Amino acid sequence: MYDIIRQLEEKRERARMGGGERRIDAQHGKGKLTARERIEVLLDPGSFEEWDMFVEHRCTDFGMAEQSTPGDGVVTGYGTVNGRLIFVFSQDFTVFGGSLSESHAEKICKIMDQAMKVGAPVIGLNDSGGARIQEGVDSLAGYAEVFQRNVLASGVVPQISCIMGPCAGGAVYSPAMTDFIFMVQDSSYMFVTGPDVVKTVTHEEVTQEELGGASTHTTKSGVADKAFTDDLQALLYLRRFIDFLPANNREKPPVRPTPDPHDRVEMSLDTLIPDNPNKPYDMKELIEKVVDEGDFFELQPDYAGNIVIGFARMEGSTVGIVANQPMVLAGCLDIASATKAGRFVRFCDSFNIPLVTFVDVPGFLPGTAQEYGGIIKHGAKLLYAYAEATVPKVTVITRKAYGGAYDVMSSKHLRGDANYAWPTAEIAVMGPKGAVEIIFRGDLGDEEKIAARTEEYRTRFANPFIAGSRGFIDDVIMPHGTRTRICRALRMLKNKDLKNPWKKHGNIPL
Ligand code: HXC
Repeated sequence: MYDIIRQLEEKRERARMGGGERRIDAQHGKGKLTARERIEVLLDPGSFEEWDMFVEHRCTDFGMAEQSTPGDGVVTGYGTVNGRLIFVFSQDFTVFGGSLSESHAEKICKIMDQAMKVGAPVIGLNDSGGARIQEGVDSLAGYAEVFQRNVLASGVVPQISCIMGPCAGGAVYSPAMTDFIFMVQDSSYMFVTGPDVVKTVTHEEVTQEELGGASTHTTKSGVADKAFTDDLQALLYLRRFIDFLPANNREKPPVRPTPDPHDRVEMSLDTLIPDNPNKPYDMKELIEKVVDEGDFFELQPDYAGNIVIGFARMEGSTVGIVANQPMVLAGCLDIASATKAGRFVRFCDSFNIPLVTFVDVPGFLPGTAQEYGGIIKHGAKLLYAYAEATVPKVTVITRKAYGGAYDVMSSKHLRGDANYAWPTAEIAVMGPKGAVEIIFRGDLGDEEKIAARTEEYRTRFANPFIAGSRGFIDDVIMPHGTRTRICRALRMLKNKDLKNPWKKHGNIPL
């Protein structure tokens, strides 16, 4: 018995040491935590239950039979974050560069399967050189097993990837199919083919950081949702982030009691909209003044800034916020913003998170770049996502709601539940100037006439009352009472029950 216990302890110690002191020091030298240290920061103290610590690879080629580490380069198990169950895998770069073997993949699949059975989120901490080169196709098979589970888990339990080291080749496709991707600045990168292959094929010279670092994916590609300065910050934000999400698609979002009164009046909102309709203002100011305690977790803040997305709480319950941002491209919808917001709306709808939409949109961005890029198809993603969503939908039009973009942004016609407009709202087919230049083309050149026509159009259409007279908005509300009105609407919608017709699945314009 003592012998077995000693052996057990020895094995545990070997597993805990991963690739050994030297490689652990090298990991720390790069400013990175080890796989186990990351789990310690992420989970509540003492809550981690590790599984499969003794799993080893089965490869015998290339001298691999002599090189084996218990755990095989990934630490897996479950624990709690603020008392709520989550499953986690954390790749250990000190063991074969965190590369994915058949056994390594089996460990990840095991916790994914279990998370699905009990309905709990899966968090992946990725730090891996990709497929275990010595294993060949067995490793590729392992990846595909993970991919398949990512897809089956999509919309059932939240899946979050935190990229904390290399993530290359086909390995990027597992994170790509999870709901959110976070990255660490200067130590993580994601690309399908690395700089050397890029140079051979396209003759472009590019560094790893330029090709797939955190700043690339949070500003240029939109692949990642947010970047953090180091491992510690990433993991602490992850703890905060997971608190917004329900554990699975059968649960309502978690409620966190708040001292912020539902009827808090915010007088400064009455002067938020500038007198000049072409002058921008910061939509984030409105969001922060309306949500509980000003706590807004923005996603993709540096990508497609013309739309703002993120999580907040109203009366303690999570809501998904989508808002046009007049400070960027005047708040126009374009390919990037429609794709960004469309995916977010679908996440919220999958996980019963009500949507609160703030609208100030002059339309879709015109131009050849947008048309050639497929704005018709990509813009339709956001339209499709809102139209399909059955969660409570509350919409507030602050200023412009023009044309097709008015329809798209959670309008009454797309089953918006509570649609409000501020007195400053202008709900029309287009802005007065553009409209007059089309319908009174004959008067062009006669400035006085055009000015009079524009004023006439503005008085007639650039207000919320025509939409109000049709019932397309439910009320014109004072800006200072916005929080109260949204809270009341969400209370009214608590037991909303709406189902789409049965289908295998829809065909969103991809
Ligand atoms: C086996 C690997 C490995 C791999 C790294 N190692 N990647 N072992 N399979 N894929 C090992 C190294 O041999 C080394 O072992 C240790 O991990 C650390 O690697 P270093 O190269 O010393 O570290 P670093 O300089 O930081 O470079 C990290 C790296 C580089 C950029 C990730 O190792 C690298 O380029 N690896 C190969 C990446 C790759 O091409 N992967 C396959 C992608 S294709 P020792 O014993 O010295 O510590 C793919 C297909 C998936 O993933 C398809 C799914 C559909």
